[in-house]
Amino acid sequence: MKALVYEGPKKVAVVEVADAEIEQPTDVLIEVSSTNICGSDLHMYEGRTSVEKGKVLGHETLGKVVEVGHAVYSIRVGDMVCLPFNIGCGFCANCERGFTGFCLTANPGTAGAAYGFAGMGPYSGGQAEYLRVPFGDFNCLKLPEDAKKRQNDYVMLSDVFPTGWHATRLAGLKPGDSIVIYGAGPVGLMAALSAQLQGAAKVIVVDSKQDRLKLAEGMGAIGIDQSEGDVVGRILEETDGKGASCGCEAVGYQCSDRHGHEVPNLTMNNLVKTVAATGGIGVVGVFLPQDPGAKDALAKEGAIAFDLGAMWFKGQRIATGQANVKAYNRKLCALIESGRAKPSQIVSHELPLQQAAEAYQNFDERVPGWTKVVLKPRA
Ligand SMILES: NC(=O)c1ccc[n+]([C@@H]2O[C@H](COP(=O)([O-])OP(=O)(O)OC[C@H]3O[C@@H](n4cnc5c(N)ncnc54)[C@H](O)[C@@H]3O)[C@@H](O)[C@H]2O)c1
Ligand SMILES: [Zn+2]
Ligand SMILES: [Zn+2]
Repeated sequence: MKALVYEGPKKVAVVEVADAEIEQPTDVLIEVSSTNICGSDLHMYEGRTSVEKGKVLGHETLGKVVEVGHAVYSIRVGDMVCLPFNIGCGFCANCERGFTGFCLTANPGTAGAAYGFAGMGPYSGGQAEYLRVPFGDFNCLKLPEDAKKRQNDYVMLSDVFPTGWHATRLAGLKPGDSIVIYGAGPVGLMAALSAQLQGAAKVIVVDSKQDRLKLAEGMGAIGIDQSEGDVVGRILEETDGKGASCGCEAVGYQCSDRHGHEVPNLTMNNLVKTVAATGGIGVVGVFLPQDPGAKDALAKEGAIAFDLGAMWFKGQRIATGQANVKAYNRKLCALIESGRAKPSQIVSHELPLQQAAEAYQNFDERVPGWTKVVLKPRA
């Protein structure tokens, strides 16, 4: 089958690889029809992770079931399904409490497994013609009748819509709150959409990319362009000098200043400054335990100089981590089906899998207009 593989820093290619197949009786095999490129793929693409050469990337996948293992109970050939980026077993101590992003079974020795991802187990990714889905009954979200026609909406249930929603839940957003979101990439935009759906009174989104800020404004948010300077002052102005009720980090360890230089502690310290006393901070942007490619010694060890004193003084709370997609995807699917949510509004490009390498390059360079790419292996 054809699949997109990592070949080295800034080098990916669509090549012929061994077919995905059923390996366990609990597996399901999917013919992939939509698969996104994610900001998380870019950390690997840029050579800033330990991902091995030859790994098939992709963890945002939707497709049709073409085969099921003999122990699969609820999923049938022909079902249209969307897969959470995390692989959960459903029966471990973390999965049973809803923490499916921290499954103890699927990637022994680590809490958490995912498709096509550095350090998240041996699983191949979905930027391919076919995908093997372990623990198929648990991981497949069966989609409604209109799934084939509205794939660009439903495929967002694999990651960015639940992850944006998760960011707002980690932040403790309540109706009538104000919220500041750092990052207007797909995750930050989905956090803004989620905050609107949950009744936020004011949504503020920070980025330096005009095209992405425009999308946030289209959702009713206030865009703050980092490249114009004084981000903190302008957010305080919007929030009566107190800061927002809560905040989200949707950028991660490669966050940069207004000149494009990486400053790994920038968003976290800005959140401390721009979230009000007692407010919650939800961090879904990725931070890694080691980052050998970082410029400063602290960041190489996965550490940052953090304003803990200011945070303690303000009595803020921080919550972090991978989104437990399964905790949200069924309900968010209902919001899509009913027409209340249209996450496809962030999609800028729909391309055949064959054009994936070019798409990675443009998305990585944040070329204006390249907000979210959906690849179509069957096109
Ligand atoms: N926790 C999870 O489960 C989960 C899931 C998906 C993605 N992620 C992570 O979320 C992050 C965002 O993902 P994405 O797909 O939106 O990525 P993206 O790279 O497309 O978007 C990041 C955005 O942040 C902006 N940015 C950079 N520095 C900034 C700063 N100092 N202040 C404000 N904005 C800044 C960039 O211009 C860019 O638009 C990544 O780290 C990704 O790995 C986490
Ligand atoms: Zn993703
Ligand atoms: Zn588990």
